[in-house]
Amino acid sequence: MRVLGIESSCDDTSAAVVEDGWRVLANVVSSQTEVHARFGGVVPEIASRRHLERIDVVIAAALEQAGCALAEIDGIAVTNRPGLIGALVVGLTAAKSYAWAVGKPVIGVHHIQAHLHASRLDCEAPPRPPFVGLVASGGHSDLIWAPDWLDMQLLGETRDDAAGEAFDKVARHLDLGYPGGPAVQRVAEGASDPFPLPIADLDDSLDFSFSGVKTAVVRLAERLGPEEARARQADIAAGFQRAVVEPLARNAVRACRERDATELAVGGGVAANALLRARLAELCGEAGIRLTLAPLRYCTDNGAMVAAAGCVALAAGRVDDLMLDCVSTDPLPWWAGP
Ligand code: KG4
Ligand code: ZN
Repeated sequence: MRVLGIESSCDDTSAAVVEDGWRVLANVVSSQTEVHARFGGVVPEIASRRHLERIDVVIAAALEQAGCALAEIDGIAVTNRPGLIGALVVGLTAAKSYAWAVGKPVIGVHHIQAHLHASRLDCEAPPRPPFVGLVASGGHSDLIWAPDWLDMQLLGETRDDAAGEAFDKVARHLDLGYPGGPAVQRVAEGASDPFPLPIADLDDSLDFSFSGVKTAVVRLAERLGPEEARARQADIAAGFQRAVVEPLARNAVRACRERDATELAVGGGVAANALLRARLAELCGEAGIRLTLAPLRYCTDNGAMVAAAGCVALAAGRVDDLMLDCVSTDPLPWWAGP
């Protein structure tokens, strides 16, 4: 089974062809990072227009790299929620048009769930349900309970900023560039004496909060003054990174314990963070939990994870029709469904 996956929910235009739900035949990503860097964040209107310029080229490139004609594709999966509405519409419209042209089914995919499907890509031993999922990205920090790949329920989420959003905002404050996550990680590598910044502990909850540590960085930089703050940039970045990574890793393992789960799957842009990967491996090792991290190349947004999610839905016969929309009027919570 071959599925074409299309992703355009934020600032990456991507298309991929995935076989049997895990083997990536092609994954083409056209990043808009350079366009948005000068604004220090994603500008929705610019993102939509750039998606429009790139979407057909990216889909054609993915099919060509996969050595696959559109007619040989079994279904077209597309992120239809959540995301920037103007950006989503571009991918969704393309998916429906191509699906109609070749008479193949279209499958609407939930972006956060797709980030967990990334842990199956190019992986011979994928997470086995039931498992706990952690998705840490620019827009979300979610803990998920997955009795099945097609049934995911929200266990905890951020009460304010997402983890990636906090990385981006702190990087901007420290003048480290955009996107902030990789920049903070790079600078933190040079730390000699990391500042101990507050780690949010929300008692019995599996929720997260990252706005406090972001404010703590701003106050610390003010207290140190511009010169000292610049000189101690690596120590500030390392202290901040630890304060974001620690609750993500601890809550993920706690969720596994609460659910009696022995499998943890992790995805999302922040899952590319080396400290988070190391800390999760350490805690999971101690707790006897089998950890599957999305491969680095599939942590940030990509079409392959969307195609992987689409494969599972298609195999189960859960496909959509050309009325598929990105504004849900469904009474289910926003994160429910395939
Ligand atoms: O999943 P993603 O590509 O987009 C969303 O769905 O939001 O995640 C992008 C986020 C950005 O906030 C970026 O700063 C963060 O992932 N990120 C990282 C790293 N690489 C990307 N955060 C921490 N460490 C990294 N190495
Ligand atoms: Zn994402």
